[in-house]
Amino acid sequence: KAPPGISVDPLRIVGKELKFLTKNIRQLLGSGHPALDKVAKYYTRSEGKHMRPLLVLLMSQATALDPRKHTSDSPNPRSVDSSFSSLSILDDANPDSNPLVAPSAESQYDFAGDDNILPAQRRLAEITELIHTASLLHDDVIDNAVTRRANSSANLAFGNKMAVLAGDFLLGRASVALARLRDPEVTELMATVIANLVEGEFMQLKNTAQDEAKPIYTDETLDYYLQKTYLKTASLISKSCRSAAVLGRSAPEVIEAAYAYGRNLGLAFQLVDDMLDYTLTEAELGKPAGADLELGLATAPLLFAWKSNPELGPLVGRKFRNEGDVQRAREIVYHSNGVEQTRVLAQDYADTAVAAISDFPDSEAKSGLIEMAEKTMKRRK
Ligand code: FPP
Ligand code: MG
Ligand code: MG
Repeated sequence: KAPPGISVDPLRIVGKELKFLTKNIRQLLGSGHPALDKVAKYYTRSEGKHMRPLLVLLMSQATALDPRKHTSDSPNPRSVDSSFSSLSILDDANPDSNPLVAPSAESQYDFAGDDNILPAQRRLAEITELIHTASLLHDDVIDNAVTRRANSSANLAFGNKMAVLAGDFLLGRASVALARLRDPEVTELMATVIANLVEGEFMQLKNTAQDEAKPIYTDETLDYYLQKTYLKTASLISKSCRSAAVLGRSAPEVIEAAYAYGRNLGLAFQLVDDMLDYTLTEAELGKPAGADLELGLATAPLLFAWKSNPELGPLVGRKFRNEGDVQRAREIVYHSNGVEQTRVLAQDYADTAVAAISDFPDSEAKSGLIEMAEKTMKRRK
């Protein structure tokens, strides 16, 4: 247990777990079709930050130590430990590569039990990363991205059709894994995430709540952006943190705390993302900087700038489409306090995330969750 004030490395706490994550995910993505197999696994080769599974694992551990447990006569979740290796194969398209019944399924989990994380919670961490990766495959098609994590994007490497289909395949496999958890509440939560991701992306296509012909900054402008941000980013984080607590049979107030942590951290995370788009270079980001304006997107730094610079309205309305719009908008943002206000709002959400779990008993995992909030604010990529 880390003494108060001494920071811990979240990666060290569950690092052992994460080592198995990519391997397990690749198993979940095995297809008998060699081309699909390759495209589906493409974004699992370059190491992402694994922020979402890391949060699920830390939340699983932190809530396991909470003495408040939901008292019900439902079976002890530890008794379903072997369920992944005893189910029959339903995927007749891939009889040899059924990822959920791989012979090594038990040995992958041979360290189970020494860190308070349930097999179902580990699987949830993998499902969370699968859904995230599916959304990246689709997102890069929508955004016409050429790079992702300092590599060619999947759409560039394989074309839009294969990238979209690979994303769908990931969602299919994530759904199978989810069904196998045999927890209807968690299934509902994570299925809702998939719908929310699409809703968030649709809100982003519309960009603002305003009539696009006559855009003016109103109180609704930021609300719309935050709702969009919740759906596109924070929903996955909040509902997977919630699901971790549900799988651990936590008490209702612990489940709510896990959700509140994820929701606020997720909002902070995306606000920082939108801020970094204005403050970092392409080399630092591993993807083009300043991309949001080029995509016609008005994110938090611009919205705050717009509040005190009404002349941004017409540019927002035409999605920075005219010659010079992007450059002009960028200058106005840099001359405003939009970036700083974005940082302040993000810090506010990060603080709220930490406050949400203040009742959890002190543990390394809890310190890890607090550290994740600090890292979210300090991150440069
Ligand atoms: C990255 O945002 C994208 C998302 C957080 C979600 C995208 C959601 C969809 C494309 C809807 C479909 C999703 C599924 C699961 C079917 P960004 O473009 O701001 O970030 P980037 O800079 O990493 O590209
Ligand atoms: Mg994108
Ligand atoms: Mg996008």
